[in-house]
Amino acid sequence: ATTASPSPCVSTHLLSRAYYSTGYPERKVAILGAAGGIGQPLSLLMKLNPFVSSLSLYDIANTPGVAADVSHINSPAQVTGYVGEEQLGKALEGSDLVIIPAGVPRKPGMTRDDLFNINAGIVKSLCVAIAKYCPNALVNMISNPVNSTVPIAAEVFKKAGTRDERKLFGVTTLDVIRAKTFYAGKAKVPVADIDVPVIGGHAGITILPLFSQAAPKANLPDDDIMALTKRTQDGGTEVVEAKAGKGSATLSMAYAGAVFADACIKGLNGVPAIVECSFVESSVTELPFFASQVKLGKDGVEQVFGLGPLSEFEKQGLENLKPELKASIQKGIKFANQN
Ligand code: NAD
Ligand code: LMR
Repeated sequence: ATTASPSPCVSTHLLSRAYYSTGYPERKVAILGAAGGIGQPLSLLMKLNPFVSSLSLYDIANTPGVAADVSHINSPAQVTGYVGEEQLGKALEGSDLVIIPAGVPRKPGMTRDDLFNINAGIVKSLCVAIAKYCPNALVNMISNPVNSTVPIAAEVFKKAGTRDERKLFGVTTLDVIRAKTFYAGKAKVPVADIDVPVIGGHAGITILPLFSQAAPKANLPDDDIMALTKRTQDGGTEVVEAKAGKGSATLSMAYAGAVFADACIKGLNGVPAIVECSFVESSVTELPFFASQVKLGKDGVEQVFGLGPLSEFEKQGLENLKPELKASIQKGIKFANQN
């Protein structure tokens, strides 16, 4: 049942007390990797989300402390910490949404693909458990390399007989957030007003911001657009280098993860017109997975939007990204079926 309808604005009202509302269905959210660099601030932000009634924090270590800490915040969500594989089933049971920031982050000099050897196995085993304990949950994949971990998850769900292409999402919201921030700086427009779609995937040149579709329009010169595109593509590396061996983006990622999770829950709750970019199963291009704008509804993806008109620079960027994205997708599919 739905009663009071919240403001349609997703990102700026996460923490607003006025935004708390009742009458929405109970929603259980599980975070796998909840004690990590992303997991902890994401747990905090999900505890503040008024639509979450139960927050399940799972990791291989340290979750009791994180759960005890977060649980003292006076918001409605009931928090439980689970630690170790034997508690994974309980952590997942009844979940409407599972967010996965489990796995190792980059160090300077590494690509996201260099994380494949460790993170592919972690993601695979977590997805086997999701298929068993909460097969109907939406899954928000944060663990890198997203271009491969999402196909791994899809294959695991296919093998388990639970695959539903509407319910699996690679989280690319951080690319959108970066594109908005960098564009606002250059275009001298208020950052809160900006929209920029980001398509493709989530690594290097596979990240393709569509500044030609940015709103409000700023008519920036071509060399500014090229520089903004490159900065958005290299945004993750910028943080990895600044952290100098102490990991990758955690705080901005937790924010991005919370924005995307909030959009997913709103979609589940029947809030209309919820649109975000995400790396999903797609027929928008010839690639089986692709990030573009998607409409979120009661069963997850309700509509995958096409790319709209692209500039010549963006058309070239789209062709340039396809071979790398295709190889990363194939690598994930092969891993899931070999091991
Ligand atoms: P981190 O090392 O700080 O935290 C990872 C957590 O995962 C740790 O607490 C660890 O114990 C846990 N973990 C490891 N194996 C696990 C398992 N089998 N089950 C449950 N938990 C497990 O790393 P981080 O900085 O939080 O980054 C996590 C991942 O997110 C990395 O792969 C990173 O590249 C990725 N990331 C993605 C984006 C994106 O935009 N999609 C942005 C930033 C980081
Ligand atoms: C990011 O974009 O910040 C993440 O994918 C982490 C990374 O390795 O860059």
